[in-house]
Amino acid sequence: MIKTIDFAHLYRQHLARSGRVFKPASDWDSKAAEMRIKVLESTYATEFIKRVSVSPTDTVLDVGCGPGTIGLALAPQVKKVYGLDYSQGMLTALEQNVTDLQLTNVEPILASWEDSWAAIPVCDIAVVSRASIVADMDSALTKLNNHARKRVYMTHLVGGRFVSREIAELLGREDTSFPDHMYVLNMLYQRNIYPTLDYIESPSRLAGSTNANELIEKVAWSFGELTSAEKEKLTQWYKQDPEYARQGGEPMRWAFLSWQTQ
Ligand SMILES: C[S@@+](CC[C@H](N)C(=O)[O-])C[C@H]1O[C@@H](n2cnc3c(N)ncnc32)[C@H](O)[C@@H]1O
Repeated sequence: MIKTIDFAHLYRQHLARSGRVFKPASDWDSKAAEMRIKVLESTYATEFIKRVSVSPTDTVLDVGCGPGTIGLALAPQVKKVYGLDYSQGMLTALEQNVTDLQLTNVEPILASWEDSWAAIPVCDIAVVSRASIVADMDSALTKLNNHARKRVYMTHLVGGRFVSREIAELLGREDTSFPDHMYVLNMLYQRNIYPTLDYIESPSRLAGSTNANELIEKVAWSFGELTSAEKEKLTQWYKQDPEYARQGGEPMRWAFLSWQTQ
């Protein structure tokens, strides 16, 4: 029965309901300078790299590479890294980082998920870090499987980034989380591919308040104006477990999927 469910269709329906908007490349261009250095040494990147296994003869395709968060960390351990991104600003940031790090085995590729990948090199490993919100996941998975001879490593946001699932539930607001990895797991299963699943956690975007009012401000920033009843619920929630509330509740969670392609 599970083999006949159209998960690609369900994915598209859920994506539409989640309210995610597809950003044009120019939106990412304007973020590139800010992201260029900040993301390279994040705990997230360290946790991602820890889970990747490569050998010195491997070639790596980093899809949605941004300024090189994952690809540049892998470059010293492999033969060659191709950084694919549709934002020229991100690729310029990647090239600046390549120069700063004195790397000689990184090549940028200006292309998108949606383009034909006929001219994109087939590599040993494909990595996709925080760059997999696509309209057609089925075709994205086909592209990855055809362009990685050995293994794919991919992360997906589990809950809402700015809008916490837990707080949405507390306030009775709509939960707009889009756990796209659940669809990916099923689509891979239908292809007789059995990925491993693990999670990378980082602090909630609501972390860092020192009292209930500060938390209310943070929540209002992401949820919009709050009613006095909602503020009261948040105050009670804060009082129940102030330490947990100071952390902003549950952490931001990335699903880390990895599978063998052969
Ligand atoms: C959140 S950033 C992640 C960058 C990097 N992989 C990381 O983990 O820090 C998302 C990246 O995906 C790229 N991207 C978004 N949509 C894309 C698309 N349709 N085709 C190619 N790249 C895309 C953006 O330009 C951006 O560099």
